Amino acid sequence: MHDTRIPIDIPGHPTALVVGAGLVSRLAEMCRCEGIALAGRAVLVVVDDAIASTHGGTLVAALRGGGARVATVSISAKETEKAIPAVERVWAAALAHGLDRRGLVVALGGGLTGDLAGFAAATFMRGIDFVQVPTTLLAMVDAAIGGKTGVNLALPGGGLGKNLAGVFWQPKATFADPDFLSTLPLREVRSGLAECVKHAIIDGEARFAALERDAELLAVGDSAALARLIPESAAIKAHIVAADPFERGVRATLNLGHTFGHAIETLPGVDLLHGEAVAIGMVAAAIAAESWSGFDAAPMTARVTNLLRRFSLPTSLGIDSTPDLPLEIRRRMGFDKKNEGGGLRLILPRAVGDVVVASDVPEPVVEAGLQAIL
Ligand SMILES: NC(=O)c1ccc[n+]([C@@H]2O[C@H](COP(=O)([O-])OP(=O)(O)OC[C@H]3O[C@@H](n4cnc5c(N)ncnc54)[C@H](O)[C@@H]3O)[C@@H](O)[C@H]2O)c1
Repeated sequence: MHDTRIPIDIPGHPTALVVGAGLVSRLAEMCRCEGIALAGRAVLVVVDDAIASTHGGTLVAALRGGGARVATVSISAKETEKAIPAVERVWAAALAHGLDRRGLVVALGGGLTGDLAGFAAATFMRGIDFVQVPTTLLAMVDAAIGGKTGVNLALPGGGLGKNLAGVFWQPKATFADPDFLSTLPLREVRSGLAECVKHAIIDGEARFAALERDAELLAVGDSAALARLIPESAAIKAHIVAADPFERGVRATLNLGHTFGHAIETLPGVDLLHGEAVAIGMVAAAIAAESWSGFDAAPMTARVTNLLRRFSLPTSLGIDSTPDLPLEIRRRMGFDKKNEGGGLRLILPRAVGDVVVASDVPEPVVEAGLQAIL
């Protein structure tokens, strides 16, 4: 497989996504091509502790091969740990290793590691360089692209508010090596496929039909099918982010499924991966779109639900509902970052290739989406 380079032309912060099998062992050369200096540079690798021993060595050796002085700090990839104390540990490690404003942070892990390491890099000495090396499908096609970094906050009244503290901080480059996926559990691969479905709904018929065509292979984590999918799906996000880096318009569509998804992802008694929560959230958004007058979203809902099921992704919460559950989900949705002036904003898919941002969504529309997933 050849490397694929996707430039992301963000004004003032041009960056790129490079996808290629085995590229981590060639990272020094990759960095050179992207104008990222390594010789003599203090580099802190922030690594997910679950993969430090399997995947950390190759990356560290490659960076040292480029002349960098490398230290590592590991973090635990749990949503409850995606918080300021872990960021403080990264800052402390950066200081201990002598990083100054020329220092470089490299994130090695899934979306959680990238969000946290990126936030630490963005705030250390008011911002130092940062490189993403995603190791999950979800991070390769989505989380490691676009410069959203951050951590979760405890909500008043209980529960975790996802990514409520953070900044936009573009990585100098994102290097995605599909070889990492050989150790990724199938359930995590499928979680990443949910974000690919999201991209396809936004992008349109050709991409969605391609996913449907390859669904059998993708659902079992076929490496060749995944290697084809990664640059295609990632390019959709890259183009949207380049057009609207600070989410003032079209980028908001990438939150499809996330308003409901974030609200259910960390509910007590629920065991959902991020992509699984987004899958359920997309179904809720589709049903909400159906109930919005003037939309004929029913054919699309059936098609999306069918594809998610082929990927063994959940399309409803799958726990016994209680009278309080819809209220609790609705309460959590009220903390969504997209909301404005107290009104709820939802990303509604009207059809494949036709996704709109709806402000001040009437409560019956929200309720229809909620009831559909309970
Ligand atoms: N910044 C963004 O734009 C953005 C977009 C989407 C999601 N996110 C965030 O990303 C996170 C979800 O990302 P994720 O799904 O990658 O989750 P993750 O980082 O929690 O990783 C999922 C699991 O896979 C394990 N893992 C990672 N790489 C592995 C490998 N190669 N082999 C074996 N195990 C491996 C991890 O230890 C973890 O248990 C959430 O916190 C979400 O909020 C951010």
